[in-house]
Amino acid sequence: MIKESIQEALNKQINAELYSAYLYLSMSSYFESINLKGFANWMRIQAQEELSHAMRIYDYVIERGGRVILDAIEKPPSEWKSPLDAFEAVYNHEVKVTDLINDLVELALKERDHATYNMLQWFVNEQVEEEASADEIVQKLKLVGDEGRAIFMLDRELAQRQPPQPEEKA
Ligand code: FEO
Repeated sequence: MIKESIQEALNKQINAELYSAYLYLSMSSYFESINLKGFANWMRIQAQEELSHAMRIYDYVIERGGRVILDAIEKPPSEWKSPLDAFEAVYNHEVKVTDLINDLVELALKERDHATYNMLQWFVNEQVEEEASADEIVQKLKLVGDEGRAIFMLDRELAQRQPPQPEEKA
């Protein structure tokens, strides 16, 4: 059975992951509105990934005999000044999520909940990747500035991103 404090914290993290999905879907819609279909594709897939993060915790809480309580999801912004502005927001958001995961890891240790601690290690590793991939695009966008042709090339590159394959459950 899962402790109340852990259950509550994991429920909050489910909400944070769902907000991330909402934020990135909103960014996808923003990119659609400025005809950058590749950027929109990247964000749409990112939103799907965030949904899968939420579901990973959702399944874990249930597996431990806990109860998932869904809360309201905050309204995300809908406009950004530029692709760089949006991707800087992605990077800053991911840094915040990393902090949330680190807080959860510390709570799991404090409560001597090693199963939750182990489950969270997947997220610790994922956050390294999430921050790195957002930062890579921020750096590219800084490099190209407002140069239309370069943005177009980057759009074609981001159009290549494929949705994640469904994970096999052991
Ligand atoms: Fe689920 Fe982007 O962290």
